[in-house]
Amino acid sequence: MYEMKPEYYIGIDMIDEEHKQLFKYADEAYELLHDEFTPDKYDRIDIILENLRNYTVKHFSDEEQYMESINYKKIFTQKVQHQEFIHKLDEFMEHHNDEVEDQDEQIMEILKYLTEWLVNHILYVDGQIPKG
Ligand SMILES: [Fe+2]
Repeated sequence: MYEMKPEYYIGIDMIDEEHKQLFKYADEAYELLHDEFTPDKYDRIDIILENLRNYTVKHFSDEEQYMESINYKKIFTQKVQHQEFIHKLDEFMEHHNDEVEDQDEQIMEILKYLTEWLVNHILYVDGQIPKG
């Protein structure tokens, strides 16, 4: 369901590969949402969020390192957006620990934020990074 579309490729292999992996986490969340055979999805939400956060931290650091290496001027805007995203993931994780909300609702919320952020950020922000 969620995967890299041709228009998401920015032409820098390392970054494209990492974006591909981020879509895989979105797809995992989508699969979990539609999994009718797991009555309690708590642990799996936890695992997805944790893997997603760890991988995103690595990805942002790689991407920022690349931007530094080519003296990219808009790196500051990028860093701010990256921090906001990590902060939101932390919020999802904290909120998840409360166990107050409906699990599918939680997954939908995560999925919506993740995919909208990714697509917008890739198309309009990462898409501007020069190929070096
Ligand atoms: Fe970025």
